[in-house]
Amino acid sequence: LVAFLAPKRLVGRRVVLTAGPTFEAIDPVRGITNSSSGRMGFALARACRQAGAEVVLVAGPCAQPTPLGVERVDVTGARDMREAVLAALPGSDVFIGVAAVADYRPAAAQEHKIKKSGAAMTLELLPNPDILAEVAARDDAPLCVGFAAESRDLDRHAEAKRVAKRLALVVGNLVQDGLGTEDNQVTLYDEQGAHPLARASKDVVAREIVARIAALLAHR
Ligand code: CTP
Ligand code: CA
Repeated sequence: LVAFLAPKRLVGRRVVLTAGPTFEAIDPVRGITNSSSGRMGFALARACRQAGAEVVLVAGPCAQPTPLGVERVDVTGARDMREAVLAALPGSDVFIGVAAVADYRPAAAQEHKIKKSGAAMTLELLPNPDILAEVAARDDAPLCVGFAAESRDLDRHAEAKRVAKRLALVVGNLVQDGLGTEDNQVTLYDEQGAHPLARASKDVVAREIVARIAALLAHR
């Protein structure tokens, strides 16, 4: 019913999103990942679809059902996620990075299981590509939206990310307010400033983010 009643703010628009964590293999049985249920990204993909958009959702490993009418591409590591995003990007009007991308990956994934030796061990890590910053820096960049989950100084960090990555909008929240929970309390940061939203379910928050994105698209 909500889907049917939702205002069709994104008709004719193509939206690409990332969601969930990435998983960076250390060996066949171990890896580095981030905490992310994927719920916020999947809720946002669903809200974009319900608003009439064509939606491609590039998802890291997470156990969320694919929203109706959404094209889902499953990926594992940040580099696969980047490839899938670049492949989906042509013709898109909006890119939303919701994924909790691992900032580093092991320098080399071992082919066989690492055996313990009892001694201390060091794992060499390499930086992963910043998918959102790369998309936003393109000449043909769509409207770019980022997320900032911080443990402190939310206003400062979220605003800094918006400016540094040249984003139209950043959705910020304190990790203690949204991680692994059913609802979320977020603040929207755009050129006009900070707009705190009321605590609500991730579906309601997603619809408010869609309304903001539609307004920003209209002024582009
Ligand atoms: N992001 C991305 N690719 C990365 C890292 C982050 O696309 N390699 C995106 C996330 O999806 C999110 C935004 O960038 O939309 C901010 O991610 P976050 O981890 O909060 O910021 P970082 O720039 O990685 O900075 P830090 O982790 O040091 O706070
Ligand atoms: Ca990061």
